[in-house]
Amino acid sequence: MLERLWWMSAFVSSLAMGESLKIPIGDVTGGKERALHTNLFLVRYFLPPETSIEVRSGMAELPVTSVPEDLKPFFLDLSQKKNYLEVMKAFLEALKQGKYNEHRSIHYPWLPDTREKLEGLLGYRQARFLSFVKKLSLVKGMSRAVYELGAQPDEKFPNGLQPEISIAETLETVEGDLKAKVRETEVIVARDGDSKDYDFYVYGEDGKLTTQSKFSSATGREYVANTPFRCLTCHYSPSTQTFDLTPLAGDSTN
Ligand code: HEC
Repeated sequence: MLERLWWMSAFVSSLAMGESLKIPIGDVTGGKERALHTNLFLVRYFLPPETSIEVRSGMAELPVTSVPEDLKPFFLDLSQKKNYLEVMKAFLEALKQGKYNEHRSIHYPWLPDTREKLEGLLGYRQARFLSFVKKLSLVKGMSRAVYELGAQPDEKFPNGLQPEISIAETLETVEGDLKAKVRETEVIVARDGDSKDYDFYVYGEDGKLTTQSKFSSATGREYVANTPFRCLTCHYSPSTQTFDLTPLAGDSTN
């Protein structure tokens, strides 16, 4: 234990001199890019948008000075992992502990902790922002209303809104009734910087920002999906290799 502590403190002080951290994020052979992009997505999420990250031979290299102080132990630990699978496991554990929502202010200082505040901020529940209503969303087993802001210029936002936001409300109806009770509100927001990724949030039934959302499988079985990891499984674009608005799996017809 003592030896490990000594070793850690020697490591921390050598890093303090402006060295870079190397984190194994993926295996670059054999079509495993998806795992690499998931890890890279998560590395970027926890760092300020201006951070320069180099990806070389399956390693993400970044200046240790760019890591927020409270996340340094976590990033040091990631840099000690033997391979990208261990890194992914460490991320999953961190997400389970709530680090995702907790650190949202790195990219989205304005993202509130309740749906009510989000509605107050964006006023999105209006016909002009309504992109589509699905009477029966196959991934939700209920109706779903999707509001999009920012993609198109609007009288309130003549130059479009930055960042671009999509809000999907699961409604407790299968008739597409917009007045039905909202079971959950899911948000996808375009990430700043040049990653071209999107980020994923959920407000639960009680209106509070949460990490879990209910989905329905092809056989109608309900399951709980955790942000952002489960969201990433469907919202990935193999062509651009980024995490996208447009889902990969599921039916997208009305
Ligand atoms: C099982 C696959 C699947 C998972 C997991 C998933 N989605 Fe989706 N998502 C879809 C599909 C399919 C649509 C298109 C609308 C529909 O059919 O319900 C969609 C649409 C959306 C939209 C509207 C996008 C638009 O067109 O503007 C948002 C917002 C959204 N999802 C958020 C999330 C969040 C947040 C998570 C993680 C909690 C998530 N999704 C997880 C499949 C998925």
